[in-house]
Amino acid sequence: MRRILKYTAIIFGLILLFLTYFVWLNLADNHNNEALLDELPSQITPKYDTSESKNWWKQTSVYQVYPRSYKDSDGDGIGDLNGIISKLDYIKSVGFETIWFSPFFKSPQKDHGYDISDYQSIQPEYGNLVLVDSLINEVHKRDMKIVFDLVLNHTSNQHPWFLESKSSKDNPKSDWYVWKDGKADTPPNNWKNILGQISAWNYVKERDQYYYAAFLPFQPDLNMSNPEVKAEIFKIVKFWLDKDVDGFRLDIFNFIFEDTSYPDNPSTLQLSNNMSEGKWAFEEHKYNFHQPEVLEFAKELREILESYSDGRFMIGEVFGSHRHMRELLGLEKQDGLNLVFLFDFLERFEFSADYFRQKVEEYEAFYPSPLVPTYVFSNHDQARSITRLDNDVRKADILATFQLTMRGVPFTYQGEEIGMTTGEIPLTEAQDPLSEGWLAVPKWFREEIGVLPNRDNCRTPMQWSKETGAGFSSNDITWLPVQQNHTSINVEDQLQDKNSLLQTYKSLLAIRKQYPVLKDGTMKFIDNEELPEDVLGYIRANSEQTVIVYLNFSDKDKIFNNNLEGYNKVLFQKRGNLNEGEIKLNSFGALIVTN
Ligand code: NOJ
Repeated sequence: MRRILKYTAIIFGLILLFLTYFVWLNLADNHNNEALLDELPSQITPKYDTSESKNWWKQTSVYQVYPRSYKDSDGDGIGDLNGIISKLDYIKSVGFETIWFSPFFKSPQKDHGYDISDYQSIQPEYGNLVLVDSLINEVHKRDMKIVFDLVLNHTSNQHPWFLESKSSKDNPKSDWYVWKDGKADTPPNNWKNILGQISAWNYVKERDQYYYAAFLPFQPDLNMSNPEVKAEIFKIVKFWLDKDVDGFRLDIFNFIFEDTSYPDNPSTLQLSNNMSEGKWAFEEHKYNFHQPEVLEFAKELREILESYSDGRFMIGEVFGSHRHMRELLGLEKQDGLNLVFLFDFLERFEFSADYFRQKVEEYEAFYPSPLVPTYVFSNHDQARSITRLDNDVRKADILATFQLTMRGVPFTYQGEEIGMTTGEIPLTEAQDPLSEGWLAVPKWFREEIGVLPNRDNCRTPMQWSKETGAGFSSNDITWLPVQQNHTSINVEDQLQDKNSLLQTYKSLLAIRKQYPVLKDGTMKFIDNEELPEDVLGYIRANSEQTVIVYLNFSDKDKIFNNNLEGYNKVLFQKRGNLNEGEIKLNSFGALIVTN
């Protein structure tokens, strides 16, 4: 009996140990950044022209428009190009300098534009090529820049290229996608798609073969290793550059190439996303993620962009370790992507001075000048940032002040500037094609790993006013329901209210223009010892200007001396003030001063 008890206890202990390890592996932050940092070259000497005018993209501020939800001009309940054009003055008046548009190209809209069926024409519900020309023109007329979204990893399965490719094994486009024979009745290898629930291989009877789709089955991967495909893509890139598009956001860029010997991927105990190691859903994506060819491809694209003398740029939606990012930027010569999205703050963050300081230190270490980090808190794929701030607008003020005064390119997603909340459309009513895959996953786990299982909820129509339809559409029925809270959270009201979040954005963007030091200056934290707990302070400086920012991340009032003599001119204050050398920050207060 004692023996049985002993063995039971041992087995139980081992299971417990395993579970602890599993939870630690999946939920802890296990990055070893110091070791990574040691591997990187200390010197960065950009290969291309670094003159200020060509490098405008290093100093810009970007506003993301999701066309389907921005402004409907013709009453069909779906946003469109005319609607967008009618709102350009608004975007300009808030102070943004660049606009990035999620795709409006021809597409069956199964992934709302990220499933393209013609890269050079426009989905009719949004408009047409003439309207796009006029959009480009109208943006430029207002002295702003325009960025398009390029989805190069995959097309729609309705793209004529794919329809031809799948029709037989010997048609002219038969190698334009990634086709492989199966093994007996099973897929060519064990690769799963991005959600990790189904095989990435999809059988097609006509060819008796499988095609590879890293994302969803209706989004077959292009075979970018085929020179003909690459050449066609380069033509498309030039087509838009010749139309004066200033840059591109590149969709899931480091998924574009696969190891062409197609080996099985190793298994791992990693269930939650550990993109920096390429591990998630029990699979180590060794052979279909961040392959060496993608670095070469980034350089080829860069060469095309550089052949336009006025400074065009591209930003990659890329995942991985900081080393991956630095490789994509072009390690020593900075001859790859111009910018990469850094997604830590987008997925989750701790609203504390310590966390923000640590992240900035990490970014400054990995992306020192002349590199530029990016700061992004919301987009069309994730819960809106205000959800991670307990829907507290005071915290959103702090977040915006941090973002717009930090060294880096800030990205603001439509509606973030008024504190639009994450919607509550149930999973069962989702239009988002990813949602189906999350139905079977327990809610607590989805929350723990920080995914938004129904992306409709960050794509609800822009809230322009309190009227029915939120000023988005004259139609009562819109492609996604307008959120109820548009009566209290909308642009029109916030333009009238001098204390609104929108006014915070306006003031800060205006200060960024007046004080270019916020764009190009060095960045230095004030020692923690000189500041009260929960207060973050930093100094931005160049040879002409110095600006100091103080942010109170707590709900307690903080009073302290302004030790930096001569810095008495207040540029911005929100629940904060400077009085005879004494700084007072009320709960979640912000203060910006200069000399
Ligand atoms: C990333 C995009 O941001 C997302 O919206 C899209 O569904 C996938 N890529 C597939 O293109």
